[in-house]
Amino acid sequence: MKISIILGTRPEIIKMSPIVRELENKGLDYFILHTGQHYSYNLDKIFFEDLELPAAKYNLGVGSGSHAEETGKMLIGIEKVLKEEKPDIVLVEGDTNTVLAGALAASKLHIKVGHVEAGLRSYDRTMPEEINRVLADHVSDYLFAPTEKAKENLLREGIEENKIFVTGNTIVDAVYQNLEIARRKADALNKLNLSPGGYILVTAHRQENVDVKGRLKGILEGLGLIYNELNLPIIYPIHPRTKKKIKEFGLEVPNGVELIEPLGFLEFLQLEANAKLVLTDSGGVQEETCILKVPCVTLRDNTERPETLEVESNVLAGVNQDKILEGVEKMISKQRNWNSPFGDGKAGEEIVKILIGGI
Ligand code: UD1
Ligand code: UDP
Repeated sequence: MKISIILGTRPEIIKMSPIVRELENKGLDYFILHTGQHYSYNLDKIFFEDLELPAAKYNLGVGSGSHAEETGKMLIGIEKVLKEEKPDIVLVEGDTNTVLAGALAASKLHIKVGHVEAGLRSYDRTMPEEINRVLADHVSDYLFAPTEKAKENLLREGIEENKIFVTGNTIVDAVYQNLEIARRKADALNKLNLSPGGYILVTAHRQENVDVKGRLKGILEGLGLIYNELNLPIIYPIHPRTKKKIKEFGLEVPNGVELIEPLGFLEFLQLEANAKLVLTDSGGVQEETCILKVPCVTLRDNTERPETLEVESNVLAGVNQDKILEGVEKMISKQRNWNSPFGDGKAGEEIVKILIGGI
């Protein structure tokens, strides 16, 4: 059996890492195909280093562009590699353009597709991620749903039950495998002169937020309001997309908000685990805060991670500054006694076990 892991962005590298680790442990035949959707050192290579992953056998170097440019170039490059390598199965993870291209190229070549993190739905088609995940799910042969809720979403769309496996989310594995290493190795608190519980952490990079001037302005104003109320430093490792848009729109970064370069996984995990509270529009960060028992305020109007709202580790605040402050006031002194719904940290092992048994 030959497995092709297709990935291209920061969250895919992180969430595929437990599967790669397990494939290595089991000595299975696999290779990594990197589309090159992310290519800056701190969105790409740093994660291969932090997570001690083997280098990709192929890197298509697709880079940035419009959705069609990125997806189209990926389709062409992926098809070529898959025709040469002839894997039995392709694994994709999540909801990026890389996932759509990988799933589509493989299925047209009649290669089996396994979708890791299948069945998530925001039911908001204005988000490119929603389109990618729906399409990937419907051409997949193995749907690795992280939760029962995700499985129910798939069943409601008519996907056969025998294709769906509830495995937990590989992000739990990644957090468990790396938290101790982060405690030993990461130096972000010292470097930034922060004390545990003495700061707020922010990430925001989603297209529907940062490409719209009014929404990005609302987020920045919300951060300013929080600083005025709480007087805690606000640390914002900024995605290059957001950095570019702040400049392009001529927006001001409020007093108290410290923009820093994106961090590697170990340093980010350390900052996340020790934060008083996290604000984000990221999918992975909503999950990680839930796992790490750190309260989260999500800067979106909906989420495909409703489990976090149910266990009350997370609230939706949108991008209005008053609503953001309201969300922070609600969550900041919250009892951290919820249980994570994302599994036991063995999703990577479980997925590989299913693949070995199933092909
Ligand atoms: C992509 C995913 C998003 C995911 C995010 C993870 C899609 C549609 N979006 O968004 O779901 O949450 O990755 O971080 O697939 N850029 C760089 N260096 C890089 C990569 C990008 O500077 O290595 C800049 C470029 O200006 C580029 C912009 O970021 O135009 C957007 O990059 P792109 O990969 O298109 O989307 P992301 O916003 O990263
Ligand atoms: N992350 C990181 N450094 C950062 C910001 C985020 O390592 O500076 C990690 C974070 O721990 C999480 C992942 O990146 O595992 C989330 O990726 P992102 O927010 O880019 O994408 P999304 O999850 O929204 O698709």
